[in-house]
Amino acid sequence: MIELPDSYSDISQTLESSELILADAVENSKTLFHTLVLSSLDNEKVASRVVVLREFNKNERYLRFHTDARAAKIKEFELNNNAAILGYDPELKIQLKLQGTVEVNYDNDVTKSAWDASTSRSKKCYSVDGGSTMHIEDPSKYDLKDGNIEDGYKNFAVLLFRFSSLEFLYLKSSGHRRALHNWDGEYSSSWLVP
Ligand SMILES: Cc1cc2nc3c(=O)[nH]c(=O)nc-3n(C[C@H](O)[C@H](O)[C@H](O)COP(=O)(O)O)c2cc1C
Repeated sequence: MIELPDSYSDISQTLESSELILADAVENSKTLFHTLVLSSLDNEKVASRVVVLREFNKNERYLRFHTDARAAKIKEFELNNNAAILGYDPELKIQLKLQGTVEVNYDNDVTKSAWDASTSRSKKCYSVDGGSTMHIEDPSKYDLKDGNIEDGYKNFAVLLFRFSSLEFLYLKSSGHRRALHNWDGEYSSSWLVP
């Protein structure tokens, strides 16, 4: 378990805690920040789904996610790369809301190194016939089969979510704290009414 302040008086602590939470959540499947909600725009409609956090790069301010290149969200990001990330863990009493853009990577250095670092169990998901979101009659026909897991690489994509704002919300009876950090141009931060 990471050590976080019990109360926040200095705004820089809210960014430090957010960074600690996201860095820990990559390997720590027990925190709900390991599975984040990623939202995209499907034309005029908002589309959200849960994705596993694979990397948090604090200095370059991106989060990495893995997905099936045939998924609906790939086409959505190609048309409009604006995206948002949402996470909350009741153990920590902290919500994080990030806004940014998604870069889709397919068959390049980014996907190669992510694929090589993936477990066989993760790789297996990408060998499913048809690709995700296809309308089907019988889901049992699409259960994962044993085969050459390396064949899945052709369906593997990596999403790099680069964020330009991060909003921290800590709901605690001793005093709610909400802080916005923004990197549009010069970095700025501000407390918000919770
Ligand atoms: C616990 C959990 C973890 C998931 N992890 C991922 C993931 O890492 N990448 C992914 O593309 N989909 C993941 N999914 C499935 C997505 O939520 C979603 O159903 C799928 O990607 C299709 O979304 P789309 O049609 O909007 O592209 C996960 C779902 C759950 C419930």
